[in-house]
Amino acid sequence: MKQPIRRIALSTGGGDAPGLNAVIRSATLAAINRGWDVVGIRDGFNGLFLPELYPEGGLIQLTRERVRGIVHQGGTIIGTTNRGNPTAYPVQQPDGSWVEVDRTPELLALFEQQGIDALITIGGDGSLTIGNHLSEAGLRVIGVPKTIDNDLEHTDATFGFDTAVSFATECIDRLFATATSHGRVIVVEVMGRYAGWIALNAGVASGAHAILIPEIPYELEPVAATIRQREQRGSKFSIVVVAEGARRVGGSVSVLGKAVGQAERLGGVGEKVATELELLTGKEARTVVLGHLLRGGTPTAVDRLLGLRFGAAAVRALDEGVDGIMVALHSPTVKYVPLSEVTSRQKTVPLDCDTMLTARDMAINFGDAMPT
Ligand code: F6P
Repeated sequence: MKQPIRRIALSTGGGDAPGLNAVIRSATLAAINRGWDVVGIRDGFNGLFLPELYPEGGLIQLTRERVRGIVHQGGTIIGTTNRGNPTAYPVQQPDGSWVEVDRTPELLALFEQQGIDALITIGGDGSLTIGNHLSEAGLRVIGVPKTIDNDLEHTDATFGFDTAVSFATECIDRLFATATSHGRVIVVEVMGRYAGWIALNAGVASGAHAILIPEIPYELEPVAATIRQREQRGSKFSIVVVAEGARRVGGSVSVLGKAVGQAERLGGVGEKVATELELLTGKEARTVVLGHLLRGGTPTAVDRLLGLRFGAAAVRALDEGVDGIMVALHSPTVKYVPLSEVTSRQKTVPLDCDTMLTARDMAINFGDAMPT
């Protein structure tokens, strides 16, 4: 028989995404309205592990006042980190080297000490995998799917994606003006890790002429042929959108580096593509890397609403006595999916999805075929 819930904690992990504060607000209000106490753990789990870093306390008391007026704000009011995995926590050794240590038992003890009965963990595949681990270790855990990359299986959508696509589209719209004026090629690199959702959606929405995504290893000669063909038709500029995880046929993903306890940092493919396209076409090419700009700004109404729905559903699940699940959008409703299932596979772009077919019908080049 589970103890009744009196106190819950919220934690945001991994990269921030627009809509996190909406989850924090609705989960807090839904919990307070049930008579529960709510705290936010600062910076993933660091507020518990390293309270000395936070003079004002590693836990933030989440009250009605604290979550007022935050839904339209980007980021997360409780902070986040992508270096706080309790199962592989980076610890520096006396000789300066780093080792990864499993701190799960310590974390569970800290939850108990703080009287925290359940955790709502808001994050991407990394945070949800940790959530599943903590759930299997005995903690009541609810996962909330977050990522601008939209690469999580078992949910129709993650919040943050719509804002990222909308802003990328606006940026590419702006680049059309300067590319047209100068008759240049502009290569726009966007985030998305190993999935091409942001590049595909923003590229199609803005009318890009070529889109390179991780799901289709590319050759640049077909892209160059499209640029030349456009030139012959009198269009002296071209826009190429490249996902950071795109790679050429037989090549590997462009990696900027990897720190201990962190996932590898992708980036740099845009510059490589621009340099080569310049050689192949003889046209001037410029690169714009949108990078972290896609994570900032006011969340769209779609992301706010999804975040609010997920936060409230997470609390409802706990109130119903359900845990060890992720709340997931199965349009039109929010359903529960076992946490153990959610990270088994990454959601990449299906090559026969409707947006791909639309792009193909419009002869957008994906670097995989000579244009007709
Ligand atoms: O997963 C979200 C994301 O923004 C990816 O698109 C990107 O590759 C990564 O995070 C960047 O992470 P960081 O902010 O740690 O460099």
